Amino acid sequence: MIDLEATLVGIAPAFAYRDGRLHADATPLDAIADAANGPVYAYALNAIAEAYQDFADAFAGQPTRICYALKANDSVGVLKTLLAKGAGVDVVSGGELALALSAGASADKIVFSGVGKTNQELADALDAAVMQINVESEAELERLNQVAVSKGVQAPIALRVNPDVDAGTLDAISTGRATDKFGVNYGDAERLYQEAARAPGLKPMGIAMHIGSQIGDVAHSAAACAKLRTLWDRLAADGVTLRRFDVGGGLGIRYKDETPPSIQAYADTIRAAVVDIDCEVMLEPGRRIVGPAGVLIANVIGEKMAGDHRVIILDAAMNDLIRPALYKAWHEVVPLRLPDADAEWTAADIVGPICESTDKFADSRMMPPLAAGDRVAFLAAGAYGAVMASEYNGRPRTPEAVVQGQNWDFARKPRTYQDLIRGQSAPDWI
Ligand code: LLP
Repeated sequence: MIDLEATLVGIAPAFAYRDGRLHADATPLDAIADAANGPVYAYALNAIAEAYQDFADAFAGQPTRICYALKANDSVGVLKTLLAKGAGVDVVSGGELALALSAGASADKIVFSGVGKTNQELADALDAAVMQINVESEAELERLNQVAVSKGVQAPIALRVNPDVDAGTLDAISTGRATDKFGVNYGDAERLYQEAARAPGLKPMGIAMHIGSQIGDVAHSAAACAKLRTLWDRLAADGVTLRRFDVGGGLGIRYKDETPPSIQAYADTIRAAVVDIDCEVMLEPGRRIVGPAGVLIANVIGEKMAGDHRVIILDAAMNDLIRPALYKAWHEVVPLRLPDADAEWTAADIVGPICESTDKFADSRMMPPLAAGDRVAFLAAGAYGAVMASEYNGRPRTPEAVVQGQNWDFARKPRTYQDLIRGQSAPDWI
């Protein structure tokens, strides 16, 4: 058996058993599961607000703009909580820009990132007058200049520089090595800044990086910051004066037994790189703010034996939470009801109902006895969970609930089969 209470404290401190039932704050997750009648995400908003505050406190005294990476969790309930705390937003598409603006984000706190922005998206960003567009290639720099000139405006830009640093994270989410598709080559950056400084439609405001996600050691961030700082100084000597030092996101969380750096240690690393220059630090954290604060709740459909393996079949599947299938990512799975002290735990594979062998959440996990109708929660599922959901196998997109104390409500309502069908059509010539 595993120590469930200790697991929660280490991984998902907003969640705890009260009277033997798993709660988010003071709300029993069963109440949410009853209403959802299927898999559902639940987010503890206080924990999200606190994580944001931890970032803000760690940078106290240093001008800092924290732009929450909306891609991690785009639930409007979550976004509004962060906006109320004063957060800016990091968006990576026209869709995210529209979502952020509709939730009330002010454009002068929005940074637009992304490796392949279309002209339409660049135009939308300029029309909205966002704070900064992070440019990722020479060709994009030229296109943005043209779009801005055609509108008679100057685009406030940073170049996302690829510092050629390994973030020491999963291959699939590493972004800062020279051959990763992200950013402009370090060796090209100086020339590109000089071109940008001369271009009529561009106004260089900052320098940016993002070396990867789920970073577990600040040494990688320190190395990347040092390279960015070298470039900053060279540019200053060249007469290109910048104001913003954008370090991206990437700070890791605990999923299993990792010991990610504290927010303070991360902040100290960044502060040390800019201590003697006049700049605004920009951050784009996603996972660290929302990851621990979310769970995916699933219902047990039943169990079977596959050979000699105990298999627990859930009503949640890889369309609801794709991280295990896509990255072999680990999510702890805990029962919503605290098992009896003498319950016999055995190893089990935990799977979803989708017709694919990759629709498997865990191999040989120690699990208590579970019967049909019992429920489990996947921990640390607040980041890159619901946002990566799909409707594969005719499974309506996973609903999302937000919790604060005893209050909870859906922030994305359960979708019906009619919702699934709506918007589809077939031409009459079939
Ligand atoms: N800024 C930029 C430019 C990014 O590309 C990302 C994440 C972030 C900020 C936020 O990073 P965070 O603080 O959340 O690590 N789906 C993957 C993670 C992909 C991350 C993509 N970029 C996963 O489930 O682990």
